Amino acid sequence: MSLNRSQPPSRVGTPRFKDIVLDVMKHYKHETESEAHQIFRQAPGHGVKHALPQTINPDEETVPGIEHPGSTGVIYCSDRAMANGFSYAASHEWSNLGQGAPEVGEIPNAPPRPTSIPLPTDSLEYAPTTGVKALREAVANLYNHTYRQGKASQYTYENVCIVPGGRAGLSRVAAVIGDVYTSYQVPDYTAYDQILSSFKRLVPVPTALDPKTKYKLDIAQTKRDIQTQGLAVILASNPRNPTGQVIRGNDLKELVAIGREGTTVILDEFYSWYIYPENEKDYGQSVSAAEYVEDVNNDSLIIIDGLTKNWRLPGWRICWVVGPTNLITALSQSGSFLDGGANHPMQLAAIPLLDPAHVALEKEALQRHFKAKRDRVLQRLHQMRLDVSIPPQATFYIWLDLEKLPAPLNNGLTFFEELLKEQTIVIPGIFFDINPAHRRNLFNSPCHHFVRISFGPPLEDLEKGMDAFERVLQKARAQGMRAFGHSYKKSIDGELHSPTATRAT
Ligand SMILES: Cc1ncc(COP(=O)(O)O)c(C=O)c1O
Repeated sequence: MSLNRSQPPSRVGTPRFKDIVLDVMKHYKHETESEAHQIFRQAPGHGVKHALPQTINPDEETVPGIEHPGSTGVIYCSDRAMANGFSYAASHEWSNLGQGAPEVGEIPNAPPRPTSIPLPTDSLEYAPTTGVKALREAVANLYNHTYRQGKASQYTYENVCIVPGGRAGLSRVAAVIGDVYTSYQVPDYTAYDQILSSFKRLVPVPTALDPKTKYKLDIAQTKRDIQTQGLAVILASNPRNPTGQVIRGNDLKELVAIGREGTTVILDEFYSWYIYPENEKDYGQSVSAAEYVEDVNNDSLIIIDGLTKNWRLPGWRICWVVGPTNLITALSQSGSFLDGGANHPMQLAAIPLLDPAHVALEKEALQRHFKAKRDRVLQRLHQMRLDVSIPPQATFYIWLDLEKLPAPLNNGLTFFEELLKEQTIVIPGIFFDINPAHRRNLFNSPCHHFVRISFGPPLEDLEKGMDAFERVLQKARAQGMRAFGHSYKKSIDGELHSPTATRAT
């Protein structure tokens, strides 16, 4: 908002002049002026990092030798929600649009949800670190059936490694990357920065994606970076969390071709079914780089996916990495010291879920249901004049730009704190920036004026969350900006760092 009366009124109404004078005080330029940002800074691991190494910080090194890695976005947001009264036991009063999890209950026209798991005696043994052979075969068969019909080179079980979750798969892969430059993009899935940084041999190289090109990965530029920077490995989620954009067709084909030219391409395809067709005939299609691989053992293309999002079974922790056989044997080794393999009974229970006929039913039901939810949230945001500049074509995330709102509602961290007061959780955009705590001023982050909204939860929760957005905007109209940016609860009992009991996503 501005003192200049000739400017058009703000989106949330026309406040009185006195309010504008008060509001101008909220025109924060630096994080030190903002209560929401100060709370972020006080969380363990989120202090400003200086150019010189810090001496022992009692807040961050209470256990000798242990340095707090800094809470991930989802954990920070859940902790802040708990400080505001949220609990998983009483979560029905809240709308949790922060957690990156799909709804797990029945949805229209989908096969019934699994309700029991057999426990044969064999399943009480360790499973092999590459996974149960029958499940590996079922995964290979599904890729061949869906993306590789008629192609000479086919995946076999030797191209598949079963892993206990997507992050375990990413960690197993990161653990076997040598002393090379490994590129990832920003914004992308927040765990990449932390996972890649945990394996000290590889050198992570972030590249910023530009909202002006809808966060598109510029393949020509990527090829130049390979030449000039010597990138040896490229990691990306496709479809991409949090922007909801997807690389397909010729672009995807070109990206896969990079894997035949001396660079390894890792594609995290956790949202490969969450694409929303415009035409009726396109329901049931999904996207995977597997379609463009020429030789499954010679193309350096690694795919990671699993039951977490597409099958809506995040609690099962059954996922897989697909790639050349030499990669799979390396992952068997890293799995043997990192995680010891995926849960044996759950692997057996997963086999029938990979049957192509079952998958076809799941996929179509999911696309229709999630498309309707996406459209409903976009419609509600439009009604609030919070139009989404780059709407998602895929995933279940909306990357919402708040820049046109008056300050301080126009920064993701403050908007997030205001929504907590209305029992709704979203994720502030800064968590999708590269290591935001290292910035001296969070306001300079390109992700600072965004929040990520998940439309993973059931429709009633989404409506509840959108009602909360509306209440925040109504409050802005009624009280002006002085209503915002203060009075944030430190914790339910007055302590900032309550013990974390957060669900991981
Ligand atoms: C792009 C992407 N990859 C992987 C994962 C994590 O998968 P998992 O929960 O199986 O570790 C997520 C979860 O949010 C994700 O968004």
